[in-house]
Amino acid sequence: MSTIKIAPSLLAADFGNLQRDVEMVENSMADWHHLDIMDGVFVPNISYGMPVMKAIGEHAVKPLDVHLMIIDPDRYIKTFAELGAHVLTVHYEACTHLHKSLQAIKSEGMKAGVALNPHTNINVLEDTINDIDLVCMMSVNPGFGGQSFIENTYKKVRDLKALIQHKRAKTLIEVDGGVTSKNAKALINAGADVLVAGSFVFKSENPTLTIQELKEITS
Ligand code: DX5
Ligand code: ZN
Repeated sequence: MSTIKIAPSLLAADFGNLQRDVEMVENSMADWHHLDIMDGVFVPNISYGMPVMKAIGEHAVKPLDVHLMIIDPDRYIKTFAELGAHVLTVHYEACTHLHKSLQAIKSEGMKAGVALNPHTNINVLEDTINDIDLVCMMSVNPGFGGQSFIENTYKKVRDLKALIQHKRAKTLIEVDGGVTSKNAKALINAGADVLVAGSFVFKSENPTLTIQELKEITS
């Protein structure tokens, strides 16, 4: 059985029919819900915040994979735990004291994730990788759905996989941005464990079947 996880990004959902789209993910072969929280400062866009996440949580049973694209995320770690986040991912570029942030996330009972922008070298995680449950490798510049996949991501995933193995860490690699059925298999072959897909799922004719397609390609 495949251990590869598919996490549809609700950023591309129809917010006027959010309950319907959350339930579609629930009833599909998807593993996680991916939630993108943006503050208009760390990234040039504002998505949605706590009240919307609370509403999503009321219709979701599958784990909530929360990607914070906000400055100074330590301010909200406790709040996101209370809102039911399973994985809480902060950006390396937004944390002055990353190790401390990771400890705070774990002490609230969540899995600790770190996201890396496309320009950030994976080696910055050399000294923290054993404390990280998931690395979210951005394959687009964060802020918007529907962007083109950056090809250099394959190399970064391979390099990160090598670092994880070298350090005997248990960290999962997630790829986020521009994921489609065209690059999914190659990403898994490079070492990815979790694939986030927004537009490819929600803008497709049949999102449930598209999730199934991604699941089958990667199994
Ligand atoms: C981008 C977000 C992604 C986004 C992915 O800042 O982190 O999760 O929703 O969307 P697609 O799959 O459309 O690139
Ligand atoms: Zn994301």
